[in-house]
Amino acid sequence: MTAPLHAVRVDKAGYRDHGSPEKSAQGLDSSGLASNAHEASLELEAAAAADGAANRQAIRVTLEWRDLRYSVPVGRRRQRTSRTILEGLSAVLPPGRLLAIMGPTGCGKSSLVNALAGRLPAGGTLEGEVLVNGLPRGRGFKSITAYVMQEDVMFANLTVFETLEFAARMRLPPSVSAADKMARNAFVRGVSGGERKRVNVGIELLSNPCLLLLDEPTVVATIHQPRSSIFALFDMLLVLSEGQATYYGPAAEAVEWFASCGFACSAHYNPADFFADVVAIDHRSPAAEEASKARVALLVERFNQQQRQRQQREAEQAAAVAAEDRAAMEQMNDRPSFPNSLPVEFSLLLRRAWKQQSRDRLPQVITLVQTLVLGFFLAALFSDIPSTLAGAQDELGVIFMSCMFNAMASIFASLNTFPVEAGIINRERTSKAYHVSPYYLARFLCDLPLRLAQSLLFGVIVYWIVGLKSTAGAFFIFCALTILLALASQALGVAVSAACPSEKVAFAVAPGITVILMLLGGFLVTYDSIPVWIRWLCWISHLYYAFMGLTINNFRGQSEWSCTTPATPDCTARSGDAILTRLGFEDKGMWVPFVGLACLTLGFNLAGYAVLRFTKQKFLPLTGSTAKKRA
Ligand SMILES: Nc1ncnc2c1ncn2[C@@H]1O[C@H](COP(=O)(O)OP(=O)(O)OP(=O)(O)O)[C@@H](O)[C@H]1O
Ligand SMILES: [Mg+2]
Repeated sequence: MTAPLHAVRVDKAGYRDHGSPEKSAQGLDSSGLASNAHEASLELEAAAAADGAANRQAIRVTLEWRDLRYSVPVGRRRQRTSRTILEGLSAVLPPGRLLAIMGPTGCGKSSLVNALAGRLPAGGTLEGEVLVNGLPRGRGFKSITAYVMQEDVMFANLTVFETLEFAARMRLPPSVSAADKMARNAFVRGVSGGERKRVNVGIELLSNPCLLLLDEPTVVATIHQPRSSIFALFDMLLVLSEGQATYYGPAAEAVEWFASCGFACSAHYNPADFFADVVAIDHRSPAAEEASKARVALLVERFNQQQRQRQQREAEQAAAVAAEDRAAMEQMNDRPSFPNSLPVEFSLLLRRAWKQQSRDRLPQVITLVQTLVLGFFLAALFSDIPSTLAGAQDELGVIFMSCMFNAMASIFASLNTFPVEAGIINRERTSKAYHVSPYYLARFLCDLPLRLAQSLLFGVIVYWIVGLKSTAGAFFIFCALTILLALASQALGVAVSAACPSEKVAFAVAPGITVILMLLGGFLVTYDSIPVWIRWLCWISHLYYAFMGLTINNFRGQSEWSCTTPATPDCTARSGDAILTRLGFEDKGMWVPFVGLACLTLGFNLAGYAVLRFTKQKFLPLTGSTAKKRA
């Protein structure tokens, strides 16, 4: 921890706590939270140091932003206009400083920090320049920067220790062994919002960042922490109002500046509260709104009047970036951005996914109980199938329902689990913690046992109670085909949920896929009855291959049935082979469904991976940047 930590911290002043109007303004009270999280991370870092793990190179960072303008489109099509959120903000932040960005809610604090971190969502326009040690942000920027977002997302079934341990191992190069035991404190059993925030700060501190961006590290105000004492810790202060700067400079000089503009802060008043009151727009009445807007306009104007003086000071600070800091940053930009090798990433992700999944017991228990219930129900319905042609028709029904069960259960399982992780995965991918391929493989392997258990359980119950072809070989083929079907369906579910913008959309799309799958299954409409121009769809339907395989497995070589009782309207197809001919499977070898299902399992998995790989969160690029290196 030798890096000159340089932190930008966003605090909301003059704003009430979420959902609790009685609580006092939450502005600057609890940076103790951040320091506590730091203590938790220190244990792990000590362990890392003891193991001789190479720590990230510490470099001094001068952060500079010039004329940052951010606007977003608002309104519907015809009335579409543009709303400016950041109005030309400029500043230079020398190394080793703690900057607090303050202002009322909605003034643009998060937008500014996101703009600095390069994480504004796509869909607006961002103009200006962000320079790190005089250089535009390059590949090395993410590896020296830690960013704690305003919202905290993390796995619910991992303990605090495991979450931090994973971050330490994944973000530090290569082997970091963490302390053996730590009190288990699972999130599901209750970790408060504040504790969650600490863990997120801890995760980011573990990578030993040179630049730390914190969006609202405070959560709840506490009376025993006087806010003015925390305010005294800040080196620099940026006060925003409606996307404009009303003050930027040393925090200690802010009171004097506001006083020189005619807004004197009395001695017993907390400066943070005072600034918030002065720059807030009062919407309680039109007159109050007008007066507060005029006050802010005056402050912005005064602040801009000093621009020449400020620009000179900032230019001096920017010019003071040491050549060695610049060279160090250039070196960081040339380095590979992932800290660990693919096998290390894979083993860490596999361990985490396994822990997360194996502790999430309820859905697994429900899955297995439901399989038992449905299996016995289906078996009970078809337990008395006669050895007649009508009975053969019933067997076809059982085979088709087995296909549907395996396909649907696996698709819906992926639709359920995958979107839950998306927020965390996006955050980790944005900080270049790991590649997508080991993540995908780890998820696939973790899902495997449940898919196998479900298919086998269902198969054992239905196959023997209903009394499908009673040879061991036929039973094993039945199990192999249904397992392959489940795996292909799981991959299809991942691809669909990764391609959909939300869980809700994924579930809205799922019924459509189910119906198409059912129709292409080969049972409701036979292959030959489908119009030629859409017949090819069967060849990319995993349900069709599974149904084909299971039917061939059950009926090929079956002797003739009687068709007297119960009376059968069509009594021509009386042997197993005749049934296969009617379904269009007579000339298909057993290898066809196996190869088809294997290819589709691979294909759907590749599609799932590709969708995940290429649908990563898009961030707004910086335009209008001169992007040239400063001399
Ligand atoms: N993508 C967007 N589209 C439309 N409006 C946006 C977008 N992003 C931000 N805004 C608006 O810009 C303003 C500033 O948002 P921002 O999140 O930066 O505020 P903030 O100062 O961080 O507020 P808070 O203190 O509540 O976190 C808000 O009024 C917000 O509604
Ligand atoms: Mg915010």
